[in-house]
Amino acid sequence: MKKTILVLNGPNLNLTGTRQKEIYGDVTMDECIGSLKEKFSDHNIIYHQSNHEGVLIDHLHRYGFEADGIVFNAGAYTHTSIALRDAIEAIEVPVIELHISDVQNREDFRKHSFLTDVCFKLIQGKGLKGYEEAINCCLTEH
Ligand code: DQA
Repeated sequence: MKKTILVLNGPNLNLTGTRQKEIYGDVTMDECIGSLKEKFSDHNIIYHQSNHEGVLIDHLHRYGFEADGIVFNAGAYTHTSIALRDAIEAIEVPVIELHISDVQNREDFRKHSFLTDVCFKLIQGKGLKGYEEAINCCLTEH
């Protein structure tokens, strides 16, 4: 059965591929999403990115009752946003928290996430490959 998965990226992730390449790599998000759409062509992969917290909340509300899974990299909002946590708790669709880098082995302020315990899974430190793994989890675990 064809499923709909939302991949949602937060602030600064539009600069993936040029931003801190030693941490996030040199592949752009356009390239990454393009290959995910090819790989999962039997399914509907929807991609949105925003640098604005409220817009991310709007996307969670919009897809949170109709998609089959959400892969969410909230960027730095992970470590600050109770509003995003509340939005995840308010919706029905299962959300995977994703980080390209290994946030546990970076600065201390990245070690705390407001999102982890309201998401059904956490994938971190696997580079852009993590998005593929997360979509697979959405397709198979729910
Ligand atoms: C990130 C990790 C966050 O700490 C950081 O603020 C980001 C990206 C990651 O994908 O590794 O913007 O979510």
